[in-house]
Amino acid sequence: MKTYLVTGGAGFIGANFVHYMLNKYSDIKIINLDKLTYAGNLENLKDVKTNYNYTFACGDICDKELVEKLFEGNDIDYVVNFAAESHVDRSIKEPEIFVKTNVLGTVNILNVAKNSWEIKGGFKEGKKFMQVSTDEVYGSLGDTGFFLETTPIDPHSPYSASKTGADLMVKAYYDTYKMPVNITRCSNNYGPYQFPEKLIPLLINNCLNHKNLPVYGDGMNIRDWLYVEDHCKAINMVINGGRLGEVYNVGGHNERTNMQIVKTVINYINENVDKEVTEKLIRYVEDRLGHDKRYGIDPSKIKEELGWYPETTFEVGIKKTIRWNLDNKEWMDNITSGEYQNYYDNMYQNK
Ligand code: NAD
Ligand code: TYD
Repeated sequence: MKTYLVTGGAGFIGANFVHYMLNKYSDIKIINLDKLTYAGNLENLKDVKTNYNYTFACGDICDKELVEKLFEGNDIDYVVNFAAESHVDRSIKEPEIFVKTNVLGTVNILNVAKNSWEIKGGFKEGKKFMQVSTDEVYGSLGDTGFFLETTPIDPHSPYSASKTGADLMVKAYYDTYKMPVNITRCSNNYGPYQFPEKLIPLLINNCLNHKNLPVYGDGMNIRDWLYVEDHCKAINMVINGGRLGEVYNVGGHNERTNMQIVKTVINYINENVDKEVTEKLIRYVEDRLGHDKRYGIDPSKIKEELGWYPETTFEVGIKKTIRWNLDNKEWMDNITSGEYQNYYDNMYQNK
């Protein structure tokens, strides 16, 4: 029975990963270590709460004593590190917490894992530290080309710089100690349980509440969209088959301008839910500082080495995501009541 220490499992991708793994395997144990920041929500995991193979540990990945206790009390085989501050706009306003959690927190769990897994002359068999990173470490593309694993790193935002710092420490643990690690770098995820500070859930929530749809700059920035379940599948494949020390890019040639995303969401909601949701809701607002123009992943390596490909087209994935939000209105209402409103007003009042 393999034991996974999943960090940040109460967040968007982490919660989807916990569901994916518990549905796929009945003979694994998952320990979810999460600090429950504004982005962590135990509602995301309510249907696995009583699963015998799942435990929750509330705490910070920067807390050495706590992480050591988890390693002492459990024979952990894999660390899957999702825990992070993940939103670019917040990183522009408050960079420090990004360095603390994303860089120092990652180093802390790397180090505790190393101490626990190291044996004379190497590491215990079958262990792996899996760092979930982002294509944003590569910076921004022009009109052509794609990010490859060999593309030089060139992060621009405090968020992507902190994720790069973490990646470099993970690489250093491989280069220096030969610690068994992998890094995945994926493009923009979307799907169930995504916090409505990110573009797609923010648009869905605003459409359903007849609120303006804020579009940064000219709306022509491009992101490469990945359905979250396809991402979870990729992470599992890399855990099982990734060559040690390697980076794998994960993305699916699903590039869209932000304006295309806005119109897709409006059209679906207009046709299926509410005729009053129209393009009149669109508001061009002040651009994000240092706004990366285009992200686009070349996923050839993970496809050729591990046979991964994205199964969900954008057209299918976006409908599933909107449908999930419609079916889980209470989830969104709970998240957007209270503190969220302050964030939203503060974020968009000057835009
Ligand atoms: P999220 O913000 O939804 O969730 C982050 C989770 O980490 C939350 O549950 C939060 O409580 C927890 N957390 C934050 N600080 C912590 C700390 N110090 N100790 C323990 N837990 C802490 O993020 P997400 O969108 O699910 O992203 C997960 C990972 O994937 C991140 O590492 C992110 O950089 C990466 N990633 C995300 C995307 C995307 O499109 N969402 C794309 C590429 C990479
Ligand atoms: P986001 O979901 O924050 O992801 P990231 O910045 O990590 O790619 O933003 C996706 C794109 O959408 C990005 O180009 C910024 C843009 N955007 C808007 O135009 N309006 C918004 O309200 C938000 C949150 C993002």
